[in-house]
Amino acid sequence: MKIGFFQFAPQFGKRRENLKAVAEVLANVSVDLLVLPELFNTGYLFTSKQDLIELAEPVPGPTTLFLQQLTERKQMSIVHGIAERAQDKFYNSAVLLGPDGVRAVYRKAHLFSEEKLYFAPGDSPFQVYNIGQVKIGILVCFDYWFPEAVRQLALQGAQIICHPSNLVLPGYGQQVTRVRAMENRMFWVLCNRTGKDVREGRELAFTGESQIVSPKGEILAKAGLDEQSLQIVEIEPRAADDKRVTSMNDLFKDRRTDLYTR
Ligand code: ACM
Repeated sequence: MKIGFFQFAPQFGKRRENLKAVAEVLANVSVDLLVLPELFNTGYLFTSKQDLIELAEPVPGPTTLFLQQLTERKQMSIVHGIAERAQDKFYNSAVLLGPDGVRAVYRKAHLFSEEKLYFAPGDSPFQVYNIGQVKIGILVCFDYWFPEAVRQLALQGAQIICHPSNLVLPGYGQQVTRVRAMENRMFWVLCNRTGKDVREGRELAFTGESQIVSPKGEILAKAGLDEQSLQIVEIEPRAADDKRVTSMNDLFKDRRTDLYTR
């Protein structure tokens, strides 16, 4: 299976340009599962509810309909971050889009910093989704700080974590997600963004260095700090089913659930 990410610098409020960047980079590319950044179509630095009223969209909506032309033609799946409007609420969501349309919507559970002013926290269960025989889990950016969420996906058999992100704390996400992949023996596709959002005198820079990590913690692909980068690797998802660390230790069978209280 070919999995990948597209790291780039979305422009705030410019959906058409951001979608075009994805369509252009995928034009002559073959990949089974691609991960895009968090809020890839809108940008990140929302400064008012009015921004969301103007930019958030329903799912399915214009972004998913646009991307579905790609997933249908290329018989692929895309996990992408999006500002979702659902009735009178806004969610920082990630959509799993397959060749036949929207397969799943995951609403970010752990909101970061000022996201709490504008988005509602998601209440989607941490659940795995099938792409053919392959099981994937979805998290959005700051969710990675919560090992409980990752473990729930791992215990359900997730083989690949798809992780649209807009990381702002240098180094943390790249290191911690590598450890999460190792401690749960899963593949991990961290798709971060680059560039800055500059809005109303404020500026927020993003840390790039998207990466794909193997269940043993090997870095299979890595983007630079500040470059646009499409990277694709071929993996055997079943490698994630082996939870052994020695011939006598299996990370899941050795768990002492009788001793853990929470
Ligand atoms: C983040 O959750 N976007 C840092």
